[in-house]
Amino acid sequence: VPRFAVIGHPVSHSLSPRIHAAFSHQTGIAMDYGTLDAAPTDLAAALERFHRDGGAGANVTMPHKRAAAALCESLADRAERSGVVNTLVRTATGWRGDNTDGLGLVRDLTDRHSQDLRGRRVLLIGAGGAAHGVAPALLDAGIADLFIVNRTESRTDALADALGEPARVHPRYFRDLDTLGSFDLIINATSIGHDADGSELPLPGSLIRRRCDVVDLAYGEAAIGFLAWARASGADRLIDGLGMLVEQAAESFELWHGVHPDTDAIHDELRAEHP
Ligand code: ATR
Repeated sequence: VPRFAVIGHPVSHSLSPRIHAAFSHQTGIAMDYGTLDAAPTDLAAALERFHRDGGAGANVTMPHKRAAAALCESLADRAERSGVVNTLVRTATGWRGDNTDGLGLVRDLTDRHSQDLRGRRVLLIGAGGAAHGVAPALLDAGIADLFIVNRTESRTDALADALGEPARVHPRYFRDLDTLGSFDLIINATSIGHDADGSELPLPGSLIRRRCDVVDLAYGEAAIGFLAWARASGADRLIDGLGMLVEQAAESFELWHGVHPDTDAIHDELRAEHP
């Protein structure tokens, strides 16, 4: 049975083994999918050991998404554009890196939540690994404009530069938020909910236009604060990152096995635990 794993630090809380076990069961494709905890200094060696022990592919999660891209022998175009990988495929000669996070988000929004992203005015908050991962797919989905804000302004500019579409991508600053107008879609890609420091994002309610959808890429407790702000500010639909998590896993499974699993059953099962 080929071996797969999700590599992170920490990683024990990851839902990926459960999601992939469900896909494996549903499709009848046998695989052994576990967790691999690797400290940042040990990532290269851990991947090498994993390969020697029969590792055929992996998911990469925090904090390794950028470092893993640097260890790859080749990168898929969307991973190249984002600079971060969440999926590794072992080839005869090394690791090929890809990124299914962005397509996972787009599939959740378009298929599960019936949104049409074309022509939409989008605000992306954050310019770290998560923001890099989803931005190319949003552009590919045909949004009209992508505004990016981030606490550290140099990272905003770096992400905008990496995307290479100055006509559609607009780096802005938190201090500009009052003057940006309103948006059809607002995405929180910061890790703020994971921090215990209690700080909050300085977001004016004027960002929310009628029928605005608001997404937090996190789920569970980490998404509560941001989505509560969105609700209080009149957002139409509040979407957390659980659907994206399941969809990116399905895209990874397809890269490894050539079969796209059905995501509804495992999504509903996890949703019941993370309402
Ligand atoms: P991830 O992989 O989750 O994106 P990351 O690459 O460390 O993790 O990025 C974290 C993101 O959350 C960044 O956009 C970060 O802003 P900075 O670039 O300024 O660090 C953002 N973030 C984290 N804590 C924050 C806070 N208290 N206020 C505002 N932004 C925060």
